[in-house]
Amino acid sequence: MKVEPAVAIDGHLAVPGDKSISHRALLIGAVCDGETRVTGWGRSADTESTLAAVRALCAEVDEDGDDLVVHGVGLRGLHPATLDCGNAGTLARLVTGLLAFQEGEFTLTGDESLSARPMERVAEPLRRMGAQVETTDGRLPLTITGAKLKAIDFELPVASAQVKSAVLLAGLGAEGRTTVVEPAPTRDHTELMLRAAGASVTVRPSSASVDPATALDLGNVEVPGDFSSAAPFIVAATLLPESRLTIHDLSLNPRRTGLLDVLDRMGGRVGILARRRAGGEQVGDIEVRSAELTATKISSHEVPLLVDELPLFGLLAACARGESWVYGAAELRHKETDRLEALVDALRAIGVRARIHDDGFSVVGVPTRPRGGRVEARGDHRIAMLAAVAGAVSRDGVEIEDAESVAISFPGFYDLLNQLLQR
Ligand code: S3P
Repeated sequence: MKVEPAVAIDGHLAVPGDKSISHRALLIGAVCDGETRVTGWGRSADTESTLAAVRALCAEVDEDGDDLVVHGVGLRGLHPATLDCGNAGTLARLVTGLLAFQEGEFTLTGDESLSARPMERVAEPLRRMGAQVETTDGRLPLTITGAKLKAIDFELPVASAQVKSAVLLAGLGAEGRTTVVEPAPTRDHTELMLRAAGASVTVRPSSASVDPATALDLGNVEVPGDFSSAAPFIVAATLLPESRLTIHDLSLNPRRTGLLDVLDRMGGRVGILARRRAGGEQVGDIEVRSAELTATKISSHEVPLLVDELPLFGLLAACARGESWVYGAAELRHKETDRLEALVDALRAIGVRARIHDDGFSVVGVPTRPRGGRVEARGDHRIAMLAAVAGAVSRDGVEIEDAESVAISFPGFYDLLNQLLQR
């Protein structure tokens, strides 16, 4: 697939429902008492894996387009099963937390990429709580046998919302108050949704606690647009002169919108037009205009707030005046691929002066169009999206190898991009 250069991107758009919230609505809905109505569910290869998993665990789900009704089986009502998690790390990590206090034995498998990603980070705290968990050299396949759990105070060794969520979900079925301390703030969708379902959740600046629950009731979940799916459009509108783009009903959870803060420092022009709340989550419309950028530095504390947008940040940095740096981003090595290596290779392939470091990367920016070239997405949707935007803002266009990997999070991505780009 080749993405040709464009002169501007403009118009109005809405992106599919947030992937993190869509996984959680299914998983938490499955252990509620009664029905959960989900509107604006984000359908993608990853969330389809979660849909199949909750059905395999014997929770029924009715589908009507992007609206779902999840028939909860109660907190301890999941049935033993083997779950194919596909490519979905969020499913594999979060469901393990819920399975830790169910009756019976469960097995989790995944595709080649997911089977290479670390699972000991969730297995270890769950074992400490009393569950029996076996991994395969620290990875999938994983087998878990539920048990009577006891609460723990757990300090996360890495800033990961997936690990935090797994421990908090297990805490619902444990005796005592479970606390997770984080080295840096990560996305808090689990805490917000559990609270909306009636669980007792206490949030402090660097920790979250949950008390055991007897029953959960989520009611309705309105899924806002996925900020990470909007990010390629935000970056394209910033870099293509004469652009003006409005994105509607977008998740503006501050633990997800680190890219907006970074863009603000660089000289970007993003206005928030309307802000409202839906089920504890912040939602709004934004307007993005093109801007001239200057370089910036991103610290390890800030990384989790834009962890999935760091490849796109590399492209912003490539077109900014000065040298940009990202520190403390070694976690990128454990994403769908070694994303740190993949993103630096992608930038270099289109003529950008990017360097990889042990735990981050740096880019020497030039405020002109990158040359373009051929990028290997390596099965990683975030690299494919980076390559597509790079094609639009480049001089010669970008040929994307493995372009179809965008379906992991956003099946209609190229169609929407092509509709909005002005050539
Ligand atoms: C996610 C958390 C992040 C993110 C992933 C989704 C989530 O992973 O990269 O795309 O929904 O909790 P980590 O928290 O493990 O960094």
